Amino acid sequence: MLNEKEPHRASAVPEDYYEQIKERLRRRIARRLRSARRVLDVGCGSCELDRFLAEQNRQEVVGVDISGTSFPEDDGAQGRVECRKADARRLGFIQDRSVDAVVSVHALHEMEKPVEVLREANRVLRAGGEMLVVDFPRDSLAQRLWNEGYYTTAEVAEMLRESGFVSVECSQVARGQLIWAEAHKAPAGKEML
Ligand SMILES: C[S@@+](CC[C@H](N)C(=O)[O-])C[C@H]1O[C@@H](n2cnc3c(N)ncnc32)[C@H](O)[C@@H]1O
Repeated sequence: MLNEKEPHRASAVPEDYYEQIKERLRRRIARRLRSARRVLDVGCGSCELDRFLAEQNRQEVVGVDISGTSFPEDDGAQGRVECRKADARRLGFIQDRSVDAVVSVHALHEMEKPVEVLREANRVLRAGGEMLVVDFPRDSLAQRLWNEGYYTTAEVAEMLRESGFVSVECSQVARGQLIWAEAHKAPAGKEML
């Protein structure tokens, strides 16, 4: 179950666990972000999630990736998805307070300066807008499979606060194999100085 609160040991889940939950995960993300009109996905990879959001929620989605090598030939979503090759630390082509939600999936741990990426996400979000980070936690199945430098839930929560987000809620879901972190940009007039 994706929303299971109790963390499980990585050795207790099958090696294809992330593949098994992929579809449920993107449905859960789509449900969480359904009230947004314009969404930004940072570290979007092949823009798969973005196409799903555009189809499922009829949202306008901008996917940003520093590599861009996996972008699809066409957006497959009737012009509602825009894939941009860019460093998520510098999104000069997106205006301040112009998106309703920012999502980042399995990407924060790969970003060189994650706090700078989160600050930039904060800049482009409208007041009260939603930030959703999903990533692999340290010592999860991902550690066993790919052994990259993953964060703990506490570290992700701290980075979100450091980047100016409020109402930060960070937990481990999917039998403890994913970090699910929600936060908001402060409401208008309550931004950090
Ligand atoms: C593991 S992939 C995840 C892709 C996709 N979100 C998914 O769930 O399949 C991480 C992505 O983050 C991208 N990335 C790393 N640093 C970045 C940065 N500074 N700005 C934008 N994208 C970045 C990488 O190019 C890579 O495509």
